[in-house]
Amino acid sequence: MRMRIDVVTIFPEFFGVLDVSLLGKARQAELVETHVHDLRDYAAFRADGTADVHRTVDDAPFGGGAGMVMKPDVWGKALDDVLKPTGVLVVPSPAGVPFTQALAQELSAAPQLVFACGRYEGIDARVAEHYANDGYRVVEASLGDYVLNGGEVAAVAMIEAITRLIPGFMGNAQSIVEESHSDGLLEYPSYTRPASWRGLDVPDVLLSGHHAKIAEWRHEQQLSRTRERRPDLLPPE
Ligand code: ADE
Repeated sequence: MRMRIDVVTIFPEFFGVLDVSLLGKARQAELVETHVHDLRDYAAFRADGTADVHRTVDDAPFGGGAGMVMKPDVWGKALDDVLKPTGVLVVPSPAGVPFTQALAQELSAAPQLVFACGRYEGIDARVAEHYANDGYRVVEASLGDYVLNGGEVAAVAMIEAITRLIPGFMGNAQSIVEESHSDGLLEYPSYTRPASWRGLDVPDVLLSGHHAKIAEWRHEQQLSRTRERRPDLLPPE
């Protein structure tokens, strides 16, 4: 079954990037279809039914504070229109759960993913609550411990991580099994010709043709790299 991805954003032109790169391949293979929607198209009328020529999508936060909050009524109209009964709502947010390879793997099986890209200080919290109450799976996920200006860059990264896991997408399934994070460790270092470059030699074991030794060396490299760079990924000693 083909996955459907919808993106709701105030910057639809940003998603032209989906036409290139890996995702372009997935679309050519008809494994995924993408639809990008301009949030402002749902802001032509205010909650009271009067016309809003400015197509306002944000307002000041209750309780005070910096920045603006995206309006729940506008998001509600957009998501009512776009979300299918089996859709999963994904809200990129620096306050979300970590977006991991395991989460990408899970989401790659969804019939529809709807990415709600917030700007400013985020989307009124009742939007996620409402769709969760309605029975939808709602995933607020963060790309990492830093703050982007909005969800768009995060959504593109998530879409790339998810679509390459759709069965049939990658030419070489083994390269997915061996890559960083699929076994909880960082990937081992890779080398190609020439065997000597600028005084740096490829480790001898890789030229030995001894497959068991190569596998053992690579596993050791995974462990030492992970210990050094990402000790948080290892079980406590
Ligand atoms: N929006 C802003 N910052 C973000 C982050 N780190 N991850 C996901 N969405 C975001």
